[in-house]
Amino acid sequence: MQKKKIMLVFGTRPEAIKMAPLYHALKAQPDVFETVLCVTAQHRQMLDQVLNVFDMKPDIDLNLMMPGQDLFDVTAAVLKGMRNVLKAHQPVALLVHGDTTTTLAAAMAGFYSGVPVGHVEAGLRTHDLQAPFPEEFNRQVASKLTKWHFAPTEFSQSNLLAEGVPQSSITVTGNTVIDALFWVLGRIEEDQTRRQGLVAFLTEQLGFDWQGQRFVLMTGHRRENFGDGFLQICHALKELAARYPAVRFVYPVHLNPNVQQPVNAILADVPNMHLIPPLDYEPFVYLMKHSHIVLTDSGGIQEEAPSLGKPVLVMRDVTERPEAVKAGTVRLVGADRGRIVTSVAELLDNDACYTAMAKAHNPYGEGRACARIVSILRDI
Ligand code: UD1
Ligand code: UDP
Repeated sequence: MQKKKIMLVFGTRPEAIKMAPLYHALKAQPDVFETVLCVTAQHRQMLDQVLNVFDMKPDIDLNLMMPGQDLFDVTAAVLKGMRNVLKAHQPVALLVHGDTTTTLAAAMAGFYSGVPVGHVEAGLRTHDLQAPFPEEFNRQVASKLTKWHFAPTEFSQSNLLAEGVPQSSITVTGNTVIDALFWVLGRIEEDQTRRQGLVAFLTEQLGFDWQGQRFVLMTGHRRENFGDGFLQICHALKELAARYPAVRFVYPVHLNPNVQQPVNAILADVPNMHLIPPLDYEPFVYLMKHSHIVLTDSGGIQEEAPSLGKPVLVMRDVTERPEAVKAGTVRLVGADRGRIVTSVAELLDNDACYTAMAKAHNPYGEGRACARIVSILRDI
């Protein structure tokens, strides 16, 4: 039997985390698949962190990140870069993930080249093209160009059906982020030396008793929050840090200069605020497991934290991930100073409120998403 050549393409940290278990699941069947990994390197350092953690070796690296790049830069560079890659390799399927500019431009390149596209994490929607921007646009267009839709939940499937996508081209798989999360947690659990190394690393990074003391773990990077939104977020954090001097605030700061600038300007001198560089996935997950509250505008963290039983306050007005909101572990607080302060304070002060939100559950699957995707790809 001729091997099926499958190309995975991704460029940013979250895509890499969520495609890593799929890459390994395909690689584990070398008699069936020839797996080719193409990275655009829309992110450089934050992508390389993930490639290392998951031991992935790109066959092609477009290496396109530029400091302060905008949407025109990335879209054009991915589209042009993928032209030659697809011409040279001609895979039977091009797998893209999620909703970044790499996703959109690579799917377009597949379409232009006549290479069928499989979309992992398909069907997420807010139905508002401005929120998140430009991700809602990216994923809606990617769906138009997709042959195999891998929807993480029944809800994401229903969004696709409502847009006229035929049922026969959709598979509900669960989210591959849970596969990645469980794999990493299992590795930490099983390996005491690894665990000790993580503890030593985090203690050195943070300089406080993070295993004993309450801390809020926070991340933020959404484009629609740049400017006023980030000012609101930073001032909320400053106010909370002053009001709760015994609570620590840990913030691995995204490398985007639009994030670095306000965060460093407003929060660098706050004594119980720990601004640190982006963490590797393994220490980040281990830290999240030990956190008290998660405050974020991230997509992936909204999926991971519920499975760790952490209350998540999401600094956005809408989410394409309503499953955990319905289940009660995720609450939307906007990029709004007053609402952020009130909501974090409520969780810190009110045990009943905290306990009601801190319930572990897995609306995004049990960690078998990749097996389901691979079984579809075996039959194409
Ligand atoms: C991108 C995605 C967003 C995703 C996020 C995950 C788009 C439009 N945005 O946003 O959907 O949620 O990644 O984090 O696709 N930078 C570095 N090193 C890195 C990464 C970024 O220096 O490893 C800096 C560079 O100056 C770069 C800038 O951040 O130009 C912006 O990166 P970009 O990928 O365009 O936007 P993100 O905000 O990271
Ligand atoms: N993450 C990480 N290190 C960090 C912060 C986040 O490894 O310092 C992981 C996190 O666990 C999640 C992913 O990065 O899996 C989320 O990435 P991000 O928030 O940048 O993007 P989004 O999910 O919003 O697209």
